[in-house]
This record gives sequence, structure tokens and C-alpha cells, in this order.
Amino acid sequence: MNSQLSIRGLTKKFEAGTPNEKIALDKVDLEVQKGEFITLLGSNGAGKSTLFNAILGKFLPDEGRILLDGEDITYQKDYKRALNIGCLFQNPLRGTAPNMTIEENLALAYTRKASRSFFALNRKDSDYFRQILASLDMGLEDRMKTRMGLLSGGQRQAAALLMATIARPKLLLLDEHTAALDPASSRKVLEVTKQIIAEDGLTALMITHDMEQALRLGSRTLMMDSGRIVLDIQGEERARMSPRELAELFGKKAREGLSDRTMLAL
Ligand SMILES: Nc1ncnc2c1ncn2[C@@H]1O[C@H](COP(=O)(O)OP(=O)(O)OP(=O)(O)O)[C@@H](O)[C@H]1O
Ligand SMILES: [Mg+2]
Repeated sequence: MNSQLSIRGLTKKFEAGTPNEKIALDKVDLEVQKGEFITLLGSNGAGKSTLFNAILGKFLPDEGRILLDGEDITYQKDYKRALNIGCLFQNPLRGTAPNMTIEENLALAYTRKASRSFFALNRKDSDYFRQILASLDMGLEDRMKTRMGLLSGGQRQAAALLMATIARPKLLLLDEHTAALDPASSRKVLEVTKQIIAEDGLTALMITHDMEQALRLGSRTLMMDSGRIVLDIQGEERARMSPRELAELFGKKAREGLSDRTMLAL
């Protein structure tokens, strides 16, 4: 099997053995092919961010394995995984240096890829950055010397996305990265997201609460509930599905999950 990401029986309990025990990941199995772009839905507390954090190595799972491009990274340190996994969260400043300029931030991400010294950044690199910033059409190319913290939310997220992907990661994780933006900025950042993922042929997982986005972007949609993947829609079935049908299916699965949990509690 040549999955880019392979998750096998991944389980994580928080506050295990206490009355507050919570199974955030419940034997999750998932195979993601190289170049696949997946959208991930699920109610609050379903385990979506926990899945991302497990992949990023923010904690160790209780059970299960995580393989990235064939390599078992289950016990790999988070900073090592960060070389191969790009990520973006709701807060546009997370993962960037707000007091540094866009150019400096990009240079930091870029030098990691080129494994050369930060100070070796030359005119050619600057031109290259300006060119890719211009291609985003977010008004960033004229603001290379602006500190990240002074950009609009949308511009920051677009710049952060570029930083997360400039080293062509093996995997890109997007956790509601447009949720805090106004509708116009959100649309723009999603366009940029689509563009970067397609151009670089990246393997990506994107968490969203928006049914329309979930179907419009990528080629496969998953839904999580109570730490499990309860829906996996792709191909013809997905192509024919409307956001409304997806919302109905989502509601049905969430209700089933709720009744299962109630039965267990009785
Ligand atoms: N560090 C933690 N300590 C204790 N419980 C946690 C921790 N992180 C997550 N949880 C719990 O695990 C469950 C899954 O949380 P998670 O953040 O993964 O949900 P989510 O699907 O991302 O939800 P949302 O849509 O609200 O972001 C929740 O019940 C949450 O309270
Ligand atoms: Mg979350």
C-alpha cells in the first residue's frame, strides 16, 4: 500500500480513569493517498482537532500507529514531524512571527527547505517571494516589508498558508483556517488554498463546518463523530451530492451517534 498518510487504530483518551474520561479518538483508521485533498466535518468535540494534534505529535496516542509516506512517525518528536507537515489554524498568528515582516517570515520557512542560512537570503530569493505573493492576488507583494501582525486577517492567513507550504510538506493540515475571517476574506483565502494545493499537488486535510465548502473543495469528504469516522464520501456519490443532502446526512449520523451514546449510558 502506498498511502501518503496511514492511520491505524488510533485511540486517545483524555483524563483516563477519571469521571471526566473522554474518548477523543476511538480506533480511527484512515488511508490518504498521495495528492488527495480531503475535507473533514464533524460537530464540536467530534475529535477533528485531536486527530490533527495526534498527527502533529502534540501528544502520544494510547493505541494505534501513524505512518507518513511509509515511515512510522507514531513516536517521532513533534519538531521532527514539523519538517514534513505544514499546518494552519484558525488564529492567523499561530505559527508565524508577528513582529517579523512577511519577507522575513517567508525566508525562515524557505531556508528550512533550502537548508541554508537565513542570512544568505539574496535578491533572487526576494524576487521569487514577490512573484509568489503576487500570484496570490491578496495585495501582499507590495507589503513584503510589513510586519505580519499589521496585516489584515485574510492577508495574514494567506501569508501563513504560503509559509506552511513553501517547503512542499508531505502533508498539509488546515484546522478551520478561514473560520475567523469575514466572508469575502474567507472566500479569497479558500481560493488561494485551492490554488496552492493544486499547483504543488499537496496531500491535504481541511477541517470545516461549512457543507458547501466541504463539497466544493477537494475530492473526498469525511465526517467524524465521537472520535470515529462515520462518513467517507467520494467519487460519483460526492459529485452528485448537494450541500443540503450532506447536511441531512450529517444530521442523521450525529443523531445516530447521540442515540448510541445514550444507550451506552443507560
Ligand atoms: N487537551 C485536552 N484535554 C482534555 N480533553 C480534551 C483535550 N483536547 C480535546 N479534548 C476533548 O476531546 C474531545 C474532542 O475535542 P476536539 O478539539 O478534537 O474536537 P473538534 O472536533 O476539533 O471540535 P470543534 O469543532 O469544536 O473544534 C472534546 O470532548 C474535547 O473536550
Ligand atoms: Mg477543533
